[in-house]
Amino acid sequence: MPLLTRRNLLKASAVAGAYGVGIGVASKFGFAEAAPEPQVLKAMKTQAALTEVGPTKDIMTWGDQGMPPVLRMARGKPYAAKLTNTLDEPTTIHWHGLRIDNRMDGVPFMTQPYVYTNDSFDYNFTPPDTGTFWYHPHCNTLTQMGHGMTGVIVVEDPADPVFDAEVVLNLRDWRLGGDGQFIAPFRPRDAAKTGTYGTVRTANWHQEPQYDAPSGGLVRLRIAVTDVTRIYSLKMEGAEATVIAIDGNPVPKRFPLELLQIGPGQRLDLAVRMPDNEGAVATLEDIRGTNPKTLASLRATGQSLKRNAGDLGALAANPVPEADLSSAEKIPLLLSATAENAPVDSICGTLGYSFWAINKVPWPGDTPDPTAPLAELKQGKSYIFQLENVTPHLHPIHLHGMSFKVISSSTREVMPIVSDTYLIQPDEKVQLAFVADNPGDWLLHCHIIEHQKTGMTSYVRVV
Ligand code: C2O
Ligand code: CU
Repeated sequence: MPLLTRRNLLKASAVAGAYGVGIGVASKFGFAEAAPEPQVLKAMKTQAALTEVGPTKDIMTWGDQGMPPVLRMARGKPYAAKLTNTLDEPTTIHWHGLRIDNRMDGVPFMTQPYVYTNDSFDYNFTPPDTGTFWYHPHCNTLTQMGHGMTGVIVVEDPADPVFDAEVVLNLRDWRLGGDGQFIAPFRPRDAAKTGTYGTVRTANWHQEPQYDAPSGGLVRLRIAVTDVTRIYSLKMEGAEATVIAIDGNPVPKRFPLELLQIGPGQRLDLAVRMPDNEGAVATLEDIRGTNPKTLASLRATGQSLKRNAGDLGALAANPVPEADLSSAEKIPLLLSATAENAPVDSICGTLGYSFWAINKVPWPGDTPDPTAPLAELKQGKSYIFQLENVTPHLHPIHLHGMSFKVISSSTREVMPIVSDTYLIQPDEKVQLAFVADNPGDWLLHCHIIEHQKTGMTSYVRVV
């Protein structure tokens, strides 16, 4: 697709309808449905009580309810959102994990014009998959996401099993000083390593929130790691928790949550069997690092429902095409550090450093002059990313627009999960297979935002 770099040109094409709202939305199911009323997502500044020392200013969010709303969509049904921008900088929305039309993907310069102050943009799409996803800007992301713009998406399907309760957890940190106000978003020496950690840890913008759930009941706990840096090792204390989906897709075989590492961008769906005794508490902990940290807890209420996790039916399947491994072409992807210092200035933010590269090319993304694509893929053909990490750090590598299946790893047993984000370990080589079924330019980047914005970004082109 042609690269449009000038705002006027972009605005002209928006008016002409190239990016505009259709009256009807063609769904994947071959019939047109009337476009629904758009959900207004107003990008704005706000304040919130994140710490005891008083409200934090300069928080960024959508809407005036504090935390970005949990967006509920229905699989196979058209969804519409109108982004209106009242920030004093441009923004966009990316729908992380949703396999939708390239024009709705929210990547400035590559898939849409960025949205200026007081401008708006209409997003229209039909989510093809059910599960837990999330949304965030794709412009000046370390600031916008770091200041609050990370929200959870739940795509529902009537075929999903019924739970007694559902709790959605948006896990993230904030870089605040002792006065509860934002401090510098990163330290360069940390960006060149794990990324810079936040100082205040929250779930749903609260420190260690507690939610009520029926005693002996089954709770669907939907967890999204939306932090810009932190990798979690999750564990449940006081209740039995079963992993039912990872990154929006049902796991091939359910397993108890013992200690699962999940990185920025990833999601985890758990079936939690609440304790039978009223008042008993189940605690979700992060045990990575020195001290276990409580993230959130569930308190049993009422008489036990005496449910059994084994009785839960299967989750609705997602129609992700199966790659043909015999014909799949291999694409090597090398993740490395780089000493090359070539940061590009961009209206969508630059950190001013270049520390990382994919196939030796450092590129921060969200710039008007992208590097060449990693590969040009033929629509409908199968491919295997041969992803290799030669750095001593973990990287949650995210592909836009298509889901892959984890085939094999050089260092561990892997479950053949379907996903959009793979948390690669140091010195690991992994094979990710997928069908290039969605035309357009699709980003591929590390979701530790400091890594992404200092070079660990690239893209593939599907034609
Ligand atoms: Cu959550 Cu470019 O991604
Ligand atoms: Cu990384």
